[in-house]
Amino acid sequence: MRLGEPLLAELEGQAWHSGADLARRLGVSRAAIWKRISRLRGRGYRIEGSAGKGYRLVHLSNRLLPAEIARSYAPRLFAGEIVYREAIDSTNRLAAELARAGAPEGTVVVAERQTAGRGRLGRSWASPGFLNLYCSVILRPALAPAEVPQLTLVAAVALAEACAATIDVAPAIKWPNDLLLQRRKAAGILTELDAEPERVRFVIVGIGVNLNAGRDDFPPELRSKATSLALASGRTIDRASFTGCLLTRLDRRYAEFCRGGFAKIAPAYESYHCLAGRRVRVEGGVQLVGTVLGIDASGALLVKDGARIERVVAGEVTLTRSYRSLRGKALAISRRRA
Ligand code: BTN
Repeated sequence: MRLGEPLLAELEGQAWHSGADLARRLGVSRAAIWKRISRLRGRGYRIEGSAGKGYRLVHLSNRLLPAEIARSYAPRLFAGEIVYREAIDSTNRLAAELARAGAPEGTVVVAERQTAGRGRLGRSWASPGFLNLYCSVILRPALAPAEVPQLTLVAAVALAEACAATIDVAPAIKWPNDLLLQRRKAAGILTELDAEPERVRFVIVGIGVNLNAGRDDFPPELRSKATSLALASGRTIDRASFTGCLLTRLDRRYAEFCRGGFAKIAPAYESYHCLAGRRVRVEGGVQLVGTVLGIDASGALLVKDGARIERVVAGEVTLTRSYRSLRGKALAISRRRA
């Protein structure tokens, strides 16, 4: 479905609109208006009807419908296409299927609920319905496969910016891609790619954000480690408007990355990064314990281990003291002398 819904735009605000007026403005019959009103009601919009006055939009839908997201989404580079599913196994899986079939860059898949939400390192991602955001974006960057992890960091910046714009609690990024609020995990990013040895065909950036989940909506083993924007801020989050905000930020940051590389985004990433100056344990491939210096211009984590500075390009990173839920991912570690 393309962004926007002309009838909804006409109904914007609380005023009454006669069926005849709406039909004239949209160039359709009054019967067609009536059908569209019924369809919108079926999707959760509360629209009052009165014989004398016509129709009035009383309440917006509480769903992640493309028309709702469009109210706060202003894509420039992205296609603007949003594919909506009430339930899906995994938005990343569907996005990859659409990408294989030729869907353009910036096509977004959103779902109310996932039945097999995927997390990093083969973990699952708890995805209860109508509470949170599960979305995946198709990207077609001109990158070598080895550079693709940088896209995760770009998305993390967009995610932190959208959180900062929505609630008063400061978000923190834990390298590479966990978003923390009050030291608990509120969102994660799963980047998957389809590539030839030298060329990326497409990348799927999957983002899961706990928006309105309450403590009991998390599986028991996650309750002490996870949070949501609502739990952290004490207020209900407008899911569609958060989604539009996040996609707009991602569109802008991705455009910046395509023009200037990760070095352009690195300062913003550093400003949200919570590991700088902390002692961490890195596992996966090479083991090490050291102090994080920050990230380099390619997005690698720099960890000072004695006299050496280790350049960690992927790994399982945990704080040595407050272990909590602060776990990152890892694939390989490359070393260089300080
Ligand atoms: C993590 O383990 O931190 C990453 C979690 C990513 C979850 C999102 S939800 C939307 C998209 N679809 C999936 O199946 N996973 C990602």
